[in-house]
Amino acid sequence: MKIEQNKSLKKYNTFGINATASEFIEITSESELIDVISKNTEKELFVLSGGSNMLLTKDLNTLVLHLQIKGITVIEESEDTVLVSANGGENWHDFVQYCIDNNYGGLENLSLIPGYVGSAPIQNIGAYGVELKDTLISCEAYEISTAKKCLFSNEDCKFGYRNSIFKNEAKGKYIISKVTFRLKKKNHSLNTSYGAIENALSERKITHPTIRDVSEVVIQIRKSKLPDPSEIGNSGSFFKNPVISTTHFTQLQNSYPLIPSYVIDKNNIKVPAGWLIEQCGFKGKRWGDAGVHEKQALVLVNYDNASGIELLNLAKRIQEKIETKFNIKLETEVNII
Ligand code: EPU
Repeated sequence: MKIEQNKSLKKYNTFGINATASEFIEITSESELIDVISKNTEKELFVLSGGSNMLLTKDLNTLVLHLQIKGITVIEESEDTVLVSANGGENWHDFVQYCIDNNYGGLENLSLIPGYVGSAPIQNIGAYGVELKDTLISCEAYEISTAKKCLFSNEDCKFGYRNSIFKNEAKGKYIISKVTFRLKKKNHSLNTSYGAIENALSERKITHPTIRDVSEVVIQIRKSKLPDPSEIGNSGSFFKNPVISTTHFTQLQNSYPLIPSYVIDKNNIKVPAGWLIEQCGFKGKRWGDAGVHEKQALVLVNYDNASGIELLNLAKRIQEKIETKFNIKLETEVNII
């Protein structure tokens, strides 16, 4: 294990922000992880996984642990289902593809989401009608203060929309090392209700889709709307879709009859932040190297050398405008560091 000093983090965060870490270490096994945690009890540690859901607004004057613990294990199999574990350093999309190659169904709608397996539970990643919580059985995590391994059941994780215990009371206290899922081997429960999936399947004339078909159309849809972080720096949706009261929604609908919405319950309605941002005229606009993506206004982009502060200031301008125009407070989905 080698500690590197003053390491640029540009290629370790999907926004491509050129912040530095005063100390940086690659962790490739659980024993290394335990060793580093136990030896550095006095130091502040920063856990870096895929770097796909963060905006670095400053240099990190800490020891950054880059988690690279890989491995996928089938723990138990029946005729119908499989219990499969992936270590935290596995690339999320590669893991989804492994599941599809083995005909393990349940994660296909989550194809092509950037990041690693270990950070997926933190924000309960979700797309096209499916969330991680739907198939996650448990996750293993090391408590930073004691280097002890703990097991979190699905219920313990307190999952919500882009939310979990790891964003709240357990924030910064654990390092997720392994995630276990229960997936189906047959009679797959496909979720194709999302309009764009249905359209893409019918364009391909597929009437009885397989999990691979669903994965392929999800990949096609994501590629058509969302920028590839290896080409343009971004962290996916920058804000969460806000939930507002039905009364507030009815008032907005009077002024904006075309406002899209998803009913949550009889008192609450979710509205797409991308639509609100587009209505405020930000879509496709660029200030220096910081901008709002031309095809999806919910995604902020770094065209090359934007700083974290420039992107944060853009995010604040968007939040102010949305609050003035719609009386809605947008919350960030991305972690601001
Ligand atoms: N819309 C606009 N203008 C835009 C973008 C969207 O009017 O610039 C409208 C669309 O026309 C549509 C609605 O907003 O009526 C929803 O758009 P979309 O289907 O693209 O989904 P989203 O709500 O913007 C969410 C997730 C995405 C996920 C998609 C598909 C959040 C914060 N984002 O986006 O997740 O891929 O649904 O399920 O919930 C991510 O978390 O990083 C992410 C990409």
